[in-house]
Amino acid sequence: MIDLHSHIISGVDDGSEDIEMSLEIAKLYVENGIDKVVCTPHYIEGAISYTPEELKIKIEELKKELFQATIPLEIYPGNEIYINPSIVGKILEVQALTINNSRYTLIELPMNDMPIYVKDVIYELRLKGIRPIIAHPERNSRVVNDPNILYELINMGALVQLNLPSLGGMYGDRVRDTGMKLLQHNMVHFVGTDTHTNRRRSPKVGKFLDILSTIVTDKDFEALTIGNPQSVLDNKEIEIKPPIKIKKKDIKLSSLIGLFTAFQQ
Ligand SMILES: [Fe+2]
Repeated sequence: MIDLHSHIISGVDDGSEDIEMSLEIAKLYVENGIDKVVCTPHYIEGAISYTPEELKIKIEELKKELFQATIPLEIYPGNEIYINPSIVGKILEVQALTINNSRYTLIELPMNDMPIYVKDVIYELRLKGIRPIIAHPERNSRVVNDPNILYELINMGALVQLNLPSLGGMYGDRVRDTGMKLLQHNMVHFVGTDTHTNRRRSPKVGKFLDILSTIVTDKDFEALTIGNPQSVLDNKEIEIKPPIKIKKKDIKLSSLIGLFTAFQQ
């Protein structure tokens, strides 16, 4: 699997605490069948304490450590960019990093809001040839209440990354149900770990991948975990299935499936 969302770099945000923890996280990645990881420290305008150059140096340092420790994990540069109207300029100026210098960029929404400028930012990014990937929208309370918000954003050209722990109920039942609904309606294009440490929010996602395999076809499982993220790393176009608008009866059905899955665990 390829993970497009990780806070494995130490000392830049609320992720890894030091290089030792980064190496522990890297070992866990390999043990869990993940061989490529995009380093996506938070980019929050006015609240970050590193420059893109410093971040690139830290990534190179970790690469060296991984080589010396013979941990077969490939890492790539990126950022998780907190949305606001000025991020388009920051991305174009390369102050905020796209994924592996590609046209794809990981964008974070507020947890409890869907600001009116979200559509404008997506529109502007698309106009400049940049493809936004919305990080874990199943955790956004507005999306939980109305997942069809994403139907519109995807039709504008946005893509979606789901956090695997959401499928195990790590953020609550409603987030889990929303994640399942989105998967069943072609509104997820990548899955990620959003790893922060080697403890709670870690690369140990095996059981969540098992749940994923019960929700999507083998072909879609491959696309979500390897095919699509590899296209991002290679800066290639991604073929996506058209999103399906969620009907009210599907929402009830999805909740039942969620309950059934939880009961089986
Ligand atoms: Fe994150």
